[in-house]
Amino acid sequence: MAADGPNVNQRPYVVAHVAISLEGATTGFLPDLGKFYQLASTFAEDVTLVGADTPLAQEAALATAPRPGPAPDGPLLAVVDGKARIRQWDALRDVGHWSDVLALHCGVTPPRSPGRGVRELVTGDERVDLAEAIDILGRQANAKVIRVDSGGALIGALLSARLLDEVSLLIHPCLAGPEGLRFWYGTQPAATADMRLMASESFDGGLVWLRYRTSPRQ
Ligand SMILES: NC(=O)c1ccc[n+]([C@@H]2O[C@H](COP(=O)([O-])OP(=O)(O)OC[C@H]3O[C@@H](n4cnc5c(N)ncnc54)[C@H](OP(=O)(O)O)[C@@H]3O)[C@@H](O)[C@H]2O)c1
Repeated sequence: MAADGPNVNQRPYVVAHVAISLEGATTGFLPDLGKFYQLASTFAEDVTLVGADTPLAQEAALATAPRPGPAPDGPLLAVVDGKARIRQWDALRDVGHWSDVLALHCGVTPPRSPGRGVRELVTGDERVDLAEAIDILGRQANAKVIRVDSGGALIGALLSARLLDEVSLLIHPCLAGPEGLRFWYGTQPAATADMRLMASESFDGGLVWLRYRTSPRQ
């Protein structure tokens, strides 16, 4: 990664990589998944951070997906799940993308079944404390890079809390229209004092990749 990349011995570098339509929607169109994940792999994250709604949207596909088992060299999957809505922890661990899974809960998270077999980290009272979770992932899981995979709600929360270092947008040449119900910045755009263009690249099929450095709190 270039000079603008991860900082050694500091908090993890947090990048949100997201596929969007021209109006900024994250749903309601068919993303180029091959290109999306090819570019995602360049971040070589230690932790993939997702909101609960992202795996929940894939529940049916996950239920029938092959399960080769954990990927020993893969990142850790950390799922923000304040309401304990995720059930498929074993499937997520075994689907072959991640080395292990971690449930991020908070004080009001409903009781979990004792034998469900997923490690958990409890931070925050009413919601998962994202700043503390990132800090702990950096210190205890030795995470240098965290890649956020989100349809917008989690990115918006991280942006508002100034916890993002980079926004990586893979723009698709289409409009999602009324089907585009989510936007990459969440429900309410956070005021961002400074978004500095780090890199831009275009690809076949009209795809454009824009990478912006944000101004996270230190
Ligand atoms: N185009 C893309 O690149 C892309 C990528 C990923 C997903 N998607 C699509 O996007 C959809 C899901 O995205 P989404 O935007 O609905 O949800 P999301 O990004 O999965 O985020 C929802 C999660 O964020 C947590 N959250 C939100 N605000 C928070 C705050 N202030 N503090 C702590 N936690 C907070 C919620 O916590 P609680 O659990 O406590 O409610 C919830 O777990 C799916 O349809 C999926 O297919 C698209």
